[in-house]
Amino acid sequence: MLYTLIHTIHIYSVFIYGGFLFVDILFLSKMQEGLSEEEHKKAREAIMVHVRKVIPYALMVAVASGLYLFSQVFGEISDDGFSYFQIILSIKASLGLWLGFRGINQKFFGIQPWVFKAHIFPFSLVVIIILLSQIMYL
Ligand code: HEM
Repeated sequence: MLYTLIHTIHIYSVFIYGGFLFVDILFLSKMQEGLSEEEHKKAREAIMVHVRKVIPYALMVAVASGLYLFSQVFGEISDDGFSYFQIILSIKASLGLWLGFRGINQKFFGIQPWVFKAHIFPFSLVVIIILLSQIMYL
C-alpha cells in the first residue's frame, strides 16, 4: 500500500518536472520568434517566476520517492553479480540523482550547472530515464 502510494507520487512528480521540460523545449523556446528581445525576456520571466516555485520541488519529490522505491525493489545482489534489472535501475537512478543534484545546487546554492546549461540536457536525460524505467522490467 505504502509502495503504491509512493510509486504514484513518483509518477506525478516526474510528470510535473518532465512536463515542464517538454513544454519549455517544444514550445517556450519558440516564443522569441514573434517577440523582440526585451518582450521575450519579460514574457519568459513572467513564466519562470511560477516555474521556480514548483519545478525544483517536484524534482526533489521525484528523487526522494525514487530513493524509497529503489530501496524496496533493488533486492539482493546474487553471487553471479548484478541482474539485468539491477544494472538498468542503477543507471536510471544515477541519472535521476544527477538531475536532482544539479537542481538542488541551482535552487538552494545558486550554483549554475557547469556543464550543459540549457534545458535540452535535463530534457534528454528525462527522455532516457523514462525509456530505462520501461525496459528495466523486460
Ligand atoms: C527526474 C528523474 C526521474 C524520472 C524522470 C523518473 C521516472 C520514472 C518513471 C517514468 C518510472 C516508471 C513508472 C511506471 O512505469 O510505473 C519510474 C520508476 C522508478 N523510479 Fe524513477 N524517475 C526519476 C528519478 C528516480 C530516482 C532518483 C530514483 C532512485 C534513486 C528512481 C527510482 C525508481 C524506481 C526504483 C522505479 C521503479 C518503481 C516500480 O516500477 O515499482 N527514480 N521512474
